[in-house]
Amino acid sequence: MPEQPVDKVRRAARLSVAPMMDWTDRHCRFFHRQMSRHALLYTEMVTSPAVIHGDRDRLLGFDAIEHPVALQLGGSDPRELAEATRIAEGYGYDEINLNVGCPSDRVQSGCFGAVLMERPGLVADCVAAMIDAARVEVTVKCRIGVDDQVPEDVLPAFLETVSAAGVTRFAIHARKAWLQGLSPRENREIPPLNYPLVEEMKQRYPHLHISVNGGIQSLEQAGGFLDRGLDGVMVGRSAYHEPWEILGRADHVMFGAEPGPDAFEVVERMKPYIANHLQHGGRLHQITRHMLGLFHGRPGARGWRRVLSERGHGGEAGLDVLDAALAEVRRVAA
Ligand SMILES: Cc1cc2nc3c(=O)[nH]c(=O)nc-3n(C[C@H](O)[C@H](O)[C@H](O)COP(=O)(O)O)c2cc1C
Repeated sequence: MPEQPVDKVRRAARLSVAPMMDWTDRHCRFFHRQMSRHALLYTEMVTSPAVIHGDRDRLLGFDAIEHPVALQLGGSDPRELAEATRIAEGYGYDEINLNVGCPSDRVQSGCFGAVLMERPGLVADCVAAMIDAARVEVTVKCRIGVDDQVPEDVLPAFLETVSAAGVTRFAIHARKAWLQGLSPRENREIPPLNYPLVEEMKQRYPHLHISVNGGIQSLEQAGGFLDRGLDGVMVGRSAYHEPWEILGRADHVMFGAEPGPDAFEVVERMKPYIANHLQHGGRLHQITRHMLGLFHGRPGARGWRRVLSERGHGGEAGLDVLDAALAEVRRVAA
């Protein structure tokens, strides 16, 4: 039997790149896709009012090469989320994900993101409305709890309530969000990670597809989670800062497929895309800012970053800057 689209996306979720505001925009995803054909890519969070009232093509447009790609929505109004889901589906996303994990102030004030961990019933209403509106799979990204909640109690209750409404795939950031007193950045570092609890959720609810997220820094570490029974691993900052280490090796290590092209070839493959962007009035830096980590940990990495950072910003900056940065890497590596 041919593989169903949902199964294909679930398989891609063995390794996914986390949604990251200001980082995982369409240029970043295009770049990541040059390294891995198989990993699942998430957009930045887009709020449901923005989808409904905003510039949709700018917020939702993407290149066909980015598939499989999931849109993350933020919101807590079931009717709005359903409408946003319907609109987003028209753009061809492979999955719609609801953000129940992001603790930033702006997000809290709109009553969405991590604060929804306190309102599983509302999350259930939201996802039920989204599922009604969608043909693709609706998923949830959440934390293990917030503030003084006891994760061992609230996480299973949350998963039971939300899965009863029809969501069977979750990405769980394995730490609490502290909604008072910590910045979003601190909320990604200070609350301790609790991986065993996420692993226990998979044992307790084997019918759920569960990806673990938070602090994962290598494919070897990622593979360990799969060996221990989890279905997927979601990587955020490491994939962004060390894209070659994570995504350049992912197809081979995580998916048993042909390895991707080497880092130099990735740059070559980016050139037509960048040229097209420049031709349409875009700036070099809008794309190359996501590529700064490509040579991370390798000879020439510093020169690569320096040339792109120093010369990539101006309106005149073109592909010659990319070539100069590459020449710097080759010079040091020779
Ligand atoms: C710059 C940045 C922006 C983020 N934006 C979002 C977001 O829009 N939605 C979301 O669910 N999580 C967001 N996160 C959290 C990540 O998705 C992820 O859960 C977190 O970074 C932990 O994973 P990591 O340790 O692998 O980075 C963001 C993280 C970073 C660093």
